[in-house]
Amino acid sequence: MQLIDGKLISAQIKQEIAQEVLAMKANGETAPHLVAILVGHDGGSETYVASKITDCQEVGFQSSLIRYEDDVTEEELLGTIDRLNRDASITGFIVQLPLPKHIDEQRIIEAIDPNKDVDGFHPINMGRTLIGLPSLVSATPAGILELLKRYKIETSGKHCVVIGRSNIVGKPVAGLMMQKNYPGDATVTVCHSRSKNIAEICRQADILIAAIGQPEFVKADMVKPGAVVIDVGTTRVPSTLTKSGWKLTGDVKFDEVAPKCSFITPVPGGVGPMTRVELLKNTLLAAKMRIN
Ligand code: GUN
Repeated sequence: MQLIDGKLISAQIKQEIAQEVLAMKANGETAPHLVAILVGHDGGSETYVASKITDCQEVGFQSSLIRYEDDVTEEELLGTIDRLNRDASITGFIVQLPLPKHIDEQRIIEAIDPNKDVDGFHPINMGRTLIGLPSLVSATPAGILELLKRYKIETSGKHCVVIGRSNIVGKPVAGLMMQKNYPGDATVTVCHSRSKNIAEICRQADILIAAIGQPEFVKADMVKPGAVVIDVGTTRVPSTLTKSGWKLTGDVKFDEVAPKCSFITPVPGGVGPMTRVELLKNTLLAAKMRIN
């Protein structure tokens, strides 16, 4: 069994990005500028946004944080998005999800200029990704493919089973894995909460991507010997062992599954750091090209 080290790979990619930013600056170009919009005070969102800002600083990007309280109106947010869309000094921006219930998340996502949609959540980017056109690909699926590539894992003709059908991970990663490309060219099955015989389907997987958001959902008896297991889960589970009082738990019961795998991603240190670095890659890409 080989551990897929997302922390190591993401550090390498960060270095590559930092080099490119240095070259841009030496060329007289301005560094990419990423803006994060954060609504409310959800602990997870606060942490994620803080790390995105730190990441920007580490690679030499400019970054800004726009904060709103939970009672912000949809119109106010749409106004800010419109301003950022028009501001040529802003390369890209993200609106951290989830948003409070009174705000229509989809309306917010669709208000973002697809050229600045570095989360890749806009239907134009999702659609272009699905049909294999240049696009800003959402960060977690892009990070998963990058890991498969950097570990030279064969995907052509393999059976890839995705557990989870979210717009952020399940759907786009399934689309990418079936793309005529490397990584890709796989036979893809998507399972979700209404699927029958999930265990049986998972046992057929050469590559198993768990993105269902249920801690330790994938047990050893659901994994074929020699499978590649990618764990996208990041549920905060209460813990007395950590200072913060919680620990990140994946969708895979790691201790019993790992010995059966050819490759497996740990949580933390697998897909998570890749998601962070792919946001930086998208921001760099948005600085260099127009999507539509
Ligand atoms: N919430 C959970 N993951 C993400 C992400 O990748 N981007 C944004 N904007 N919100 C999230």
